Amino acid sequence: MQVHTVATAPFTDQKPGTSGLRKRVPVFQQAHYLENFVQSIFDTIAAPPNATLVLGGDSRYYNREAIQTILKMAAANGFGRVLVGRGGILSTPAASCLIRKYRTHGGIILYASHNPGGPEGDFGIKYNTANGGPAPEKITDAIFAQSRLIAQYRIAEAADVELDRTGEYRIGGMTVSVMDPVADYAGLMESLFDFAAIRELFKGGFRVRFDAMHAVTGPYAREILVNRLAAPADSMMNAVPLPDFGGGHPDPNLTYAHELVEVLYGKDAPDFGAASDGDGDRNMILGRHFFVTPSDSLAILAANAHLVPGYRQGLAGIARSMPTSAAADRVARALGIPCYETPTGWKFFGNLMDAGKVTLCGEESFGTGSDHIREKDGLWAVLFWLNILAVRKQSVETIVLEHWARFGRNVYTRHDYEDIPAEAADGVMKLLHDSFAELQGAQFGPLQVKLCDDFSYADPVDGSISTGQGVRILFTDGSRIIFRLSGTGTGGATLRIYLESFESDVAKHHLDAQYLLATLTGIALQISELHKRTGRDRPTVIT
Ligand code: G1P
Ligand code: ZN
Repeated sequence: MQVHTVATAPFTDQKPGTSGLRKRVPVFQQAHYLENFVQSIFDTIAAPPNATLVLGGDSRYYNREAIQTILKMAAANGFGRVLVGRGGILSTPAASCLIRKYRTHGGIILYASHNPGGPEGDFGIKYNTANGGPAPEKITDAIFAQSRLIAQYRIAEAADVELDRTGEYRIGGMTVSVMDPVADYAGLMESLFDFAAIRELFKGGFRVRFDAMHAVTGPYAREILVNRLAAPADSMMNAVPLPDFGGGHPDPNLTYAHELVEVLYGKDAPDFGAASDGDGDRNMILGRHFFVTPSDSLAILAANAHLVPGYRQGLAGIARSMPTSAAADRVARALGIPCYETPTGWKFFGNLMDAGKVTLCGEESFGTGSDHIREKDGLWAVLFWLNILAVRKQSVETIVLEHWARFGRNVYTRHDYEDIPAEAADGVMKLLHDSFAELQGAQFGPLQVKLCDDFSYADPVDGSISTGQGVRILFTDGSRIIFRLSGTGTGGATLRIYLESFESDVAKHHLDAQYLLATLTGIALQISELHKRTGRDRPTVIT
């Protein structure tokens, strides 16, 4: 095998965000851009000779080209084996599953979550460590530092590998195993959930609709829901992965998954609807004419975990990201287990799971998962719900209303202002920071501010401190307003406002969240001067 050492110069913008490095495709297509970042990963992780790596992505545009480059670079950097999903496909949860099952040194996942794909769309690359989870900040910071110094990368001269047929191929001394991307993951799901009960549910006429949004979960959902659980084939929507996701925006929320929402809110709607995002780690759960917020979903999974074989032995604890509602905290209290509040991003859950402190984790951004892997997991959440529905034999709506009647309702919404000028977004955040002293104790009608700060987190396992994780305005009655700038966007800035209040009155539980949160929304707009500073009079997306 001939290895080329190619001279290169650093790019200054290869700083990984909330989940890996994300840029527009043309940025990644610049000469040496991808290679520099991959070499920076390899230099940082310093894998021992002949280590194994997992490699795959969400089928988006530029996935296949990047895989061929990374394979040649892995061979030149001394890896012994790379496990690649057939067709270059691996959902993020499936990649995490493979890293753990085959005890590899880690994995490289090519994806940009829910961001649009195509020649002008987004592309991304993320390194996951040997525990199957996203690399922690100290590693991503080191990769970034290395990308600022890089002077050369190594790449083997070799023919492209046939990605569409399972089998073993060689690049010099390295083996490339092209694997079925679904089988191991489907087996893991079968070990956690009561497939026989879910099969019975479908046999009894329970109707489900799953929207893969033309992204990576299509083949996974078909194998699990249709082939293994015998759901009718027309339970699937948009099940073929496409490089541009069919022109859609593969983000499972009420705005972007509107096709599914229309079905579930239409006439003769199915009993259950679900969607997953570009790389398969997010989930949206719908009942007939009913939407379950991700924060409630986490709490409900926790409260019903004893009905599911893989969790029957009990939960060690629950973790949620700071902006996620406190619904899960109430369940944790009732179960007598700890609940951890972490910054946004799945990487903060990894240490807690590795240390055996938590079993279930969730984020308000349609992410839910458990310690079965180290990523959030869209289909896992869908199967968890199906398992609960199969046992309880009630509708989704009834299960949620009963949950609220028992625990109270954490009324919740998130308002996103997407693609606003960075200066305007920074101005809003600065204004809020500058107002901390003035806001402290301030009275807004019936609401009084108890505390405002910028959230910081001390990891209870390794003691690392993460600061600047979002402005919190906490009121004495438990209501909250959170302001945060997105760390995953690739153009302009996205400002997220998270609003939450608690409602114990069952008579109000059926009311619309926007209505119940109107006062809090007004306060948020007033103190942030958002309309004036951004020129926007309404959010781009409300979830
Ligand atoms: C968003 C979500 C966050 C999630 C991340 C990756 O990040 O808010 O919860 O972990 O995507 O899926 P953000 O754009 O807010 O930084
Ligand atoms: Zn995702």
